[in-house]
Amino acid sequence: MHAANIKFQLTTNSPEETRQLGEKIGQHIQAGMVIALFGDLGSGKTVFIQGLARGLGVPADYYVTSPSYTLINEYPARHTLFHVDLYRINHPMDFEEIGLFEIMHNSGVVAVEWADRLQKDLLGEHVSVKLETPDVESRNIYITAYGLEPTNLLKKLQIKS
Ligand SMILES: Nc1ncnc2c1ncn2[C@@H]1O[C@H](COP(=O)(O)OP(=O)(O)OP(=O)(O)O)[C@@H](O)[C@H]1O
Ligand SMILES: [Mg+2]
Repeated sequence: MHAANIKFQLTTNSPEETRQLGEKIGQHIQAGMVIALFGDLGSGKTVFIQGLARGLGVPADYYVTSPSYTLINEYPARHTLFHVDLYRINHPMDFEEIGLFEIMHNSGVVAVEWADRLQKDLLGEHVSVKLETPDVESRNIYITAYGLEPTNLLKKLQIKS
């Protein structure tokens, strides 16, 4: 387990602001990065990943939506984006079945919704994004780097909390 060595918190006031935060991270992200998303139903995990996709250069005609039934969606981009949703997963065996560990920390970027379904030590180095819903249009977003590469990524963003 890595010590959390850089973190920040900010509040967005519209879905587009949350998308823009994801976009900024997508513009700077390197291959092999894992983004773990935490937050209730409707907290904005998918909206954030829509921005991540935009920043990575996923063509605009791909509609990024929660892969609840397929478990993993794959989008072509500067680094292939794997969008994983673990909402329906409740048995560790399932992780192997969906091939999650094969794609993590490889040549693509992996964004995992409902990452709390995974044991944290299985995630390895990652950026954690936690979303809270104080009201209908606002989200408090807590971003934490676990590991060296995630720390370097957040340093590049220069987002002030
Ligand atoms: N500041 C905001 N940031 C993000 N989404 C917002 C914000 N304000 C309102 N919303 C709305 O909240 C909803 C977020 O939905 P989204 O599908 O991204 O949630 P989710 O966390 O992926 O949920 P699920 O766990 O069901 O997959 C959208 O309807 C969006 O329009
Ligand atoms: Mg979602």
